[in-house]
Amino acid sequence: HTPWPGLIEAYRDRLAIGPNWKTVTLREGGTPLLPAGHLSELTGCDVYLKVEGLNPTGSFKDRGMTMAVTDALARGQQAVLCASTGNTSASAAAYAAKAKMTCAVLVPQGKIAMGKLAQAVMHGARIIQVQGNFDDCLELARKTTAEFPTIGLVNSVNPVRIEGQKTAAFEICDALGKAPDVHALPVGNAGNITAYWRGYSEYYADGLTSVKPRMLGVQAAGAAPLVHGAPVKDPETIATAIRIGSPASWNGAVTAKEESHGAFRAATDDEILEAYRLIARTEGVFVEPASAASVAGLLAARKEGWLDSGLTVVCTVTGNGLKDPDTALAGMPEVQPIPVDPVAVASALELA
Ligand code: F0G
Repeated sequence: HTPWPGLIEAYRDRLAIGPNWKTVTLREGGTPLLPAGHLSELTGCDVYLKVEGLNPTGSFKDRGMTMAVTDALARGQQAVLCASTGNTSASAAAYAAKAKMTCAVLVPQGKIAMGKLAQAVMHGARIIQVQGNFDDCLELARKTTAEFPTIGLVNSVNPVRIEGQKTAAFEICDALGKAPDVHALPVGNAGNITAYWRGYSEYYADGLTSVKPRMLGVQAAGAAPLVHGAPVKDPETIATAIRIGSPASWNGAVTAKEESHGAFRAATDDEILEAYRLIARTEGVFVEPASAASVAGLLAARKEGWLDSGLTVVCTVTGNGLKDPDTALAGMPEVQPIPVDPVAVASALELA
């Protein structure tokens, strides 16, 4: 039994790896593909959750970041910069710390979940709050790195990020022994759907799988440019991770949808929150709100007859629920403390 080496080592022959790369890894990837019994019952399908919240910094971003920070180091760059709704910045901060590089993150003012901010702080990133949304932050990051080439841009507009993230599709096919029929995932800046489609397409082209899944990309209703077919100027949703109006990988997402005969869907904040609670209570998996969009979209698609029963379906749940305790605890009723007394415990449980 050899321990999981991290995804660059695990899939070295399938990744565009530069010469003289000294891998910066936190042993990311190798996440569970968890059978989801309740969701399977609800849909009549074989549903699995790809639990990306179990990556080292609690989101799928680590798959791209091991590649991007390794690449920046090999290029001799002194610092890395990203725009982020929170997870990319947490990941960049951790990998930069591991590589002993400087990291700066541009985040939309007041719109990132507390846990993600805590991660960037702890890993020593320079946190720069911007008076604007994610789209403004990304434009600023692109302009800054274009003007100052010693700073590496580690957003998913950096192609090595997508390379790393495609390994999630490889892992799913390796675990199932085949490709799923349908793959659902939340879409924000659209790097991840682009990466999955590349991964599935490469396995298929090499004869390792005999089908490619239909891709179901789910956006939040208040931030659904791909669903509307046009950028959204002031995106708004409780799922702050995907509060994005102008996805950088627009073309990659459209290609994934069209080539796979898939679909884009919008999920309302209510649907997202309902799926968020459902996964936690029935599958034992605590994800962040944006991650639950994949499940919300899948359930709605099933109701509308888009999904036949008997199919094998994978939903990527992209980030860990611990990142956003505020949303989890919102609306929790105030409870009175009880005396130190077993009868009081039993009566609190309405068992006495
Ligand atoms: N789910 C989570 C938890 C995310 O953090 C993101 C993106 C997505 C889904 C969407 O993925 O952008 O590849 O379509 N978060 C970015 C960030 C924008 O800055 O952390 P995508």
